[in-house]
Amino acid sequence: MPVPTPNLYPAFNTVRLSHVEFGVRDLARSRAFYVDTLGLQVTDEDANTIYLRALEERGHHSIILRKSDRAEAKELGFKVYDEENLDRAAAFFAGKDLPVSWVKRPYQGRTFLTRDPQGIPLEFYAKMDRLPPIHQQYSLYKGVKPLRIDHFNCFSPNVDEAVAFWNEIGFRVTEYTEDAESGRLWAAWTHRKGGVHDLAFTNGTGPRLHHTAFWVPTPLNIIDLLDLMSTTGWLANIERGPGRHGISNAFFLYIRDPDGHRIEIYCSDYQTVDPDLEPIRWDLKDPQRQTLWGAPAPRSWFEEGSVFAGAALKESDLKATPIVAP
Ligand SMILES: [Fe+2]
Repeated sequence: MPVPTPNLYPAFNTVRLSHVEFGVRDLARSRAFYVDTLGLQVTDEDANTIYLRALEERGHHSIILRKSDRAEAKELGFKVYDEENLDRAAAFFAGKDLPVSWVKRPYQGRTFLTRDPQGIPLEFYAKMDRLPPIHQQYSLYKGVKPLRIDHFNCFSPNVDEAVAFWNEIGFRVTEYTEDAESGRLWAAWTHRKGGVHDLAFTNGTGPRLHHTAFWVPTPLNIIDLLDLMSTTGWLANIERGPGRHGISNAFFLYIRDPDGHRIEIYCSDYQTVDPDLEPIRWDLKDPQRQTLWGAPAPRSWFEEGSVFAGAALKESDLKATPIVAP
């Protein structure tokens, strides 16, 4: 089995994924997508920046939209358990000769930037400003009724190496896709928070951000979003789905924002908190891997993603190909 033994006592304790910043070229158009269509809540905005949270989130932001000449993804944000774990995290990355720089971030406490070995820009913090709960203010529920950020998925030029690094810092593999011919990982789903994943890796030119997912209450919210998008000028932004994944068993829809950043709408995966949970293996050629009902994903899904700021791209040396829609 190509999955490493989980590290149950990592050097520092990451609670969960937290947030991401997108460079967007037309802030008003992005606001129309994320706020007016998806239903995310604005927690602060000015002429250049919009901070957003979903309805269950108490932290100040899970998405930051920043006006930019480049449609790119900035740091992926992760929350650690406390300040002591934050210092241990910084020491861990520095000990691996990875860059560590402490920065000031609005609405966040002490925060450092770093990169994983494949170059994904990362941001770790322990404290973010807390906002009053709004999850029972039902008048605010609009669009797809997004409840919380659920996961990131990244293209990786070497999924085996990516998993080895993230496993060392405590991200446990729940499901994985193996290329039967080479015995190598083609994709893997890793978690901290007790769902199927906080961070997944897919084989491909990278590092690039494949998608950011938001959890919604029910599959019906996804149907409602499709009706809304298809009648309000967003038809071309619907990319894949709706459907049920084989991997994760979650109900899904993939859509693209005005800059092409991919958002997944996601619900109903399962609990994974047991430290001895056995990872589930999938074969790359299994037609039910991507979609339990058998429909393959379009070519764009395997080829297109958001570049990360300042990350050099590398082609994958694993050439195994998944099933692609004709
Ligand atoms: Fe996903």
